[in-house]
Amino acid sequence: MSTAFGASSRAAWPCAALSNVPLGARTTLRVGGRAEWLLEPASQAELAAAVVAARERGMAVRILGGGANLLVADGVLPGVVIATDRLDRLFRPSGREEAAPLDEGEGTPVARVAPEAREVDPRLVAWCGTSLPALVSAASRLGWSGLEGLVGVPGKTGGGVAMNAGGRWGELWDVIEEVRLLDPDGTFRDVRREDCSPRYRDGNLGESVVVACVLRLEPDDPARVRARTSGFLREKNAVQPVTEATCGCIFKNPDPEVSGGRSAGRLIDEAGLKGLSVGAARVSERHGNFIVNTGGATAGDVLALVRRVREEVRQRYGIDLELEVRVWAADEEEGLF
Ligand code: EPU
Repeated sequence: MSTAFGASSRAAWPCAALSNVPLGARTTLRVGGRAEWLLEPASQAELAAAVVAARERGMAVRILGGGANLLVADGVLPGVVIATDRLDRLFRPSGREEAAPLDEGEGTPVARVAPEAREVDPRLVAWCGTSLPALVSAASRLGWSGLEGLVGVPGKTGGGVAMNAGGRWGELWDVIEEVRLLDPDGTFRDVRREDCSPRYRDGNLGESVVVACVLRLEPDDPARVRARTSGFLREKNAVQPVTEATCGCIFKNPDPEVSGGRSAGRLIDEAGLKGLSVGAARVSERHGNFIVNTGGATAGDVLALVRRVREEVRQRYGIDLELEVRVWAADEEEGLF
């Protein structure tokens, strides 16, 4: 347990570390308990060392990006949570012939691109802790197309790659050229897009941690990129509860062949479940596939509501909705559903 290593712990861990840390405030849904350990590596080497150190102690390792697609159970989560906040570099490859973009720590700042250089190398390198909004806005400022569809998606690049974040107007993997992964044994591995098989809401990367990626975008008229970006944001804001505490869509959309083309949100809506509540957790009145923490909800409230919604949809339509949101719980192995 945490006391075995002492409270403050550079000595015990190879990077900044805190024990018994509340996780709810680090998620967009704002529910859940505490992490036994929270580690905050500030370099790729520290990240690898943190993973290895946790595994050597026989502790579970979970990676926390922006907490945007995450439901943390109440109580104490045993093991180590590694936060990627400090791994937030975003830059353009330097273009030096000998430099591999994923090896570069800094490259060229995104803000300082000369107009005539815009078309030369339309790539960005994002480390896992780069926020998705920062990525989308950098591309928009540069007039590079490909990330407009990700506008309004919270979270970090690492989580976005791991789960292939996106929506109706595109997915993150549409523009990925290469990804650096950290394998459970602490070794780095760079993989090209053509050697990966991302799927709907799943980067399909197994147990590996996303460390950084290279994105290849398409030079375009900056005004057009900005217009598309703000148009998508308006459309999204009109139908989603964007100002409330949620974890995005709770369920994946079912196979259209099974659901007759109806999305999870539509099935939940047609089943009359909008507004259904357990404690302070409520199915959004605005969009059926969102659960809102109306203030002070527990993870238990949210999970009970998820179960009720699934059960109603199963009974009514014979469709098993699959969770999109990741659940972190001490007893994950036993299966919450
Ligand atoms: N609909 C209803 N009632 C509702 C909600 C939706 O009838 O309460 C209908 C809509 O009118 C529309 C259809 O269902 O005809 C689909 O709804 P929407 O356009 O809102 O898209 P979605 O499939 O529910 C997906 C992603 C979102 C992404 C949007 C926009 C999934 C599970 N969700 O939503 O992603 O923002 O497209 O691109 O794939 C997320 O993954 O967390 C997420 C929010």
